[in-house]
Amino acid sequence: MSTLRTIVSRIGPLRATLVPGLLLTLIIFLVVHSSRSTDDDNADLSSAAHKAALAKRAHNSSLGFGEIVYISMPERTDRQDAMSLLADSFGLELKLVPGVRGTDISPKAIPDEVPEKMRPSELGCWRAHADAWRYLLESDMETLLIFEDDVDWNPNVKQTFETLSLQMQDSKVRLTHPSDHERKIAPYGLDWDVLYVGSCKDGGNPDFKGVSQIWDDPDVPSAQQTSKSTLEALYNFGLTDADIGKKRVLAPAYWTLCTTAYAITRQGAKRLLLTMSYLGLHAAVDNDMSRIFRDGKLKGYTLSPPAFSQFRVGGTKDSDRVDIGQTREGKGNTQGRSYNIKGSARQWMVDNLKLDNWEEYRRATGAKSPAAETW
Ligand SMILES: *[C@@H]1O[C@H](CO)[C@@H](O)[C@H](O)[C@H]1NC(C)=O
Repeated sequence: MSTLRTIVSRIGPLRATLVPGLLLTLIIFLVVHSSRSTDDDNADLSSAAHKAALAKRAHNSSLGFGEIVYISMPERTDRQDAMSLLADSFGLELKLVPGVRGTDISPKAIPDEVPEKMRPSELGCWRAHADAWRYLLESDMETLLIFEDDVDWNPNVKQTFETLSLQMQDSKVRLTHPSDHERKIAPYGLDWDVLYVGSCKDGGNPDFKGVSQIWDDPDVPSAQQTSKSTLEALYNFGLTDADIGKKRVLAPAYWTLCTTAYAITRQGAKRLLLTMSYLGLHAAVDNDMSRIFRDGKLKGYTLSPPAFSQFRVGGTKDSDRVDIGQTREGKGNTQGRSYNIKGSARQWMVDNLKLDNWEEYRRATGAKSPAAETW
């Protein structure tokens, strides 16, 4: 009895310390937990689920970039028709940036140091690209994908970009870890000026040969579909014969050629306008950009084999220049071809819209021959 009483009497004071103690623990738990949950948000940004969701934005109508524009000379309505067809066939939104005739540029507006031998068509081409760079700066977007109007791509292009996004979110070619801002909104990060996705001739910096990200991609072209110079580039980036037709590589841009397709960030638009307008222009836009990459004044990554390629019909229609001596206009769109891509969006579009209307009626009505009975 007396022991019981002592126990009961001890619980009294014990409860007096236990209750505030428990309350304090609860408060500490709540405080710690609520501050933890903001950490958790940031931890979420590097979770596999978040990365996968960010990469899925590659499937939207601007391939995960802010917008897509394409440059086309106002008179090339044939190419604009094709671009409208392609856009609708692939669920893309493509905005026209009008091409510029070099002879329409005021001599005062020509950048300093333009070589005398530069052709008006090259000057006009540069101006149209500069207009696209400005378009991004004057918008509130972070990135812009720029096409020329003879672009072609593999029909599985959205998957190519989803995979590219996953690779770029964890890439070895980055110098810094992605910021929370990049992880939230930028499927391809924002640590570059130019993302070269349509180079027709690539080469890496010999001093940094090992700096590349290589991955399996079922949509890369076979060796036969790849040009000699792109094959050389792939070897140069560390791929072997066994990798050709299986792998893609991302590396710091060094040697690049063609402006068929490339993306820019706002920082990139500024550096391009600075180095290729404000400070001068030394060559055609693609050659000059390549020079600036090699000089280290512009930061880019290049994808090889490229995701985009030039569609060629073999004749004067392949160029907007008026001074070329070809007599043949071209072999026709269905005879055209594009190197360095597996399959062609343009061919896919033709196949996809193929119709044999009367054959469908025949099948539906059970009529046997084209000289069908009346029904
Ligand atoms: C596509 O995704 C990118 C990245 O999130 C975004 O900036 C862009 O606005 C999206 N495009 C459209 C048409 O929603």
